[in-house]
Amino acid sequence: MPQISLDSTVRDLYETPVGHDVIEKVLLQMNLSEKWILNPIIGKRKIRTLSKLTGKQMGPEFWQTLIALVNSEPDVPADRTSEKPCAVKPAWWKEAVIYQIYPRSFCDSNGDGIGDLKGILSKLDYLQSLGVDALWLSPIYDSPNDDNGYDIRDYRKIMTEFGTMDDFDELLDGIHKRGMKLIMDLVVNHTSDEHEWFQKALNDPDSGYEDYYFFRKGKDGKEPNNWNSFFGGTAWNYYPERDLWALHLFSKKQMDLNWDNPKLRSDIIEMINWWLDKGVDGFRMDVINYISKSDGLPEGNEAIGKMMLFYGIEHYYYGPHLHEYLHEIREKAFKPHNAFSVGETPGIGREMAKLITGEEREELDMVFSFDQLETPGHVRFDDYEYDLNYYRDYITDWMENYGSNCWMSLFYNNHDNPRMVSKVRKDPSLRREIETLLAVMQFTLKGTPFVFQGDEMGLINYDFHSISELSDVESRNRYAELLESHSEEESFRIIRNGTRDHSRILLPWNEKAKELPEHLRQEADPVITELYRTLIALRKTHPTLIYGDFRLLSRKKNTFVYERTGEETFVIECNLSEEPRKPVFQGKGYTLLMPRTASDVMKPYEARIYRKLK
Ligand code: NOJ
Ligand code: CA
Repeated sequence: MPQISLDSTVRDLYETPVGHDVIEKVLLQMNLSEKWILNPIIGKRKIRTLSKLTGKQMGPEFWQTLIALVNSEPDVPADRTSEKPCAVKPAWWKEAVIYQIYPRSFCDSNGDGIGDLKGILSKLDYLQSLGVDALWLSPIYDSPNDDNGYDIRDYRKIMTEFGTMDDFDELLDGIHKRGMKLIMDLVVNHTSDEHEWFQKALNDPDSGYEDYYFFRKGKDGKEPNNWNSFFGGTAWNYYPERDLWALHLFSKKQMDLNWDNPKLRSDIIEMINWWLDKGVDGFRMDVINYISKSDGLPEGNEAIGKMMLFYGIEHYYYGPHLHEYLHEIREKAFKPHNAFSVGETPGIGREMAKLITGEEREELDMVFSFDQLETPGHVRFDDYEYDLNYYRDYITDWMENYGSNCWMSLFYNNHDNPRMVSKVRKDPSLRREIETLLAVMQFTLKGTPFVFQGDEMGLINYDFHSISELSDVESRNRYAELLESHSEEESFRIIRNGTRDHSRILLPWNEKAKELPEHLRQEADPVITELYRTLIALRKTHPTLIYGDFRLLSRKKNTFVYERTGEETFVIECNLSEEPRKPVFQGKGYTLLMPRTASDVMKPYEARIYRKLK
């Protein structure tokens, strides 16, 4: 790959994988279209002249930082986008429907108000009857719960509130007996500050653990650099007893691990193998793209910090040894166990994702990329309604350009986000229609669907009334920060838009959930549950819906029509808005599978599935 310099053109920059994804992210953030870059007036300009034009906001330092990041990636993705028909290598995880469980709020078996392993065990028949193939459990390890288990104190112990290791073994067995698989959460960018390693590192400089974390001297009595934490404030804790600072990209109790230390890597890999030896089938890897940090932990660029709302991100979201470390984990743990891996990779765009998931590269099987979760110019805490035309364009772009050597995850919801149905339309009167549309797309597009607990019950966002009802560390810290410049009412309103607690309320199937205040209760919608069963069964019995080629047939406003072709042909037509309109696809020669009947008008958010035998 030719090196990029200030004398390269903007177009050259956009043609590199990192340049492409960074520019796309910036455009998204600024709500500008790709045409802005493709237009020759900008595209043919040298970066040097553009850097003058973008003035103070994105001064030369911004471009230098970007160029350094781009040049740090010597590889280009293998081009497997034009193969027709696509030559996809089959794998169980490509055919699977995966169901995410957030154990704390899934099912409570002993009435203490906290979901637990026995609760999950009691729902295995239900999950099997839905047709799901694998369960992904958010962390169930011993933890002081500063971030609900994403702050691990002991990787080899089960969280007391969730049960015991015997309960776990029974659960794993129950899952396997039903022909399902278990995917665990792997949180190895950081540990809890109560983890033995951190305690040793802090309390005994000769313990050999100091290098497991990032301990640094301060700069003129201040933090070692300007990086900030995703959960508010600086990313550094000061420890007066040692006169040292330690890095935490997340909460003050989630201390970043130093992956450049081979001893740390080997301990982590040993732990992964310990779980895999127990029979676990794979891992979802928490913020796994953050594990490699730039040497010397340099200052974060001002412009990038302002734009992305976090300082320092360019020094760890695609760090210098990321590929190497992912490959090492695969070689030493996943590969010998034939285990599955899906990385949570915030900030990673399409081209960088190809370099992480291209099968020939042997790093990860799949990633979760997040740019579909908000529309351009919006962030999670904004008050806005999601335009599904953006989702159509986003997903089409990935379907057409990801390549047959890469496989994508399909999801709208997880434990870190409000429910998509409520983002699309705050007024819940059309919730069932929107939920149906989202599910139809999720199970007929190309990729592995990840259902988040409660999606199949038709759950929507909660009508939180006060900050006291929220328990998430991110929401509480952000609220405190907002109060510095906003009224209580305004601050709460902002937090309510984006709080992760929307997806963390106990599912409504047991008595404990019924004890919640009335405005925090929801009932499961059996029509939606049945719809999930039907769609999952449809996907399972028609390999074309899994491996078949994707082709866009129409992207007229508010319209998404696409075809999946293989042994047979499916056409899916979606009305992306509440405006009724004439269908684009007439269905001649096709059988209408869903809904049972269709008129010559597409109703609000209606989705149709047609099928034709070859
Ligand atoms: C991503 C997880 O999904 C989120 O819940 C957590 O707070 C952070 N990583 C930190 O582990
Ligand atoms: Ca319980």
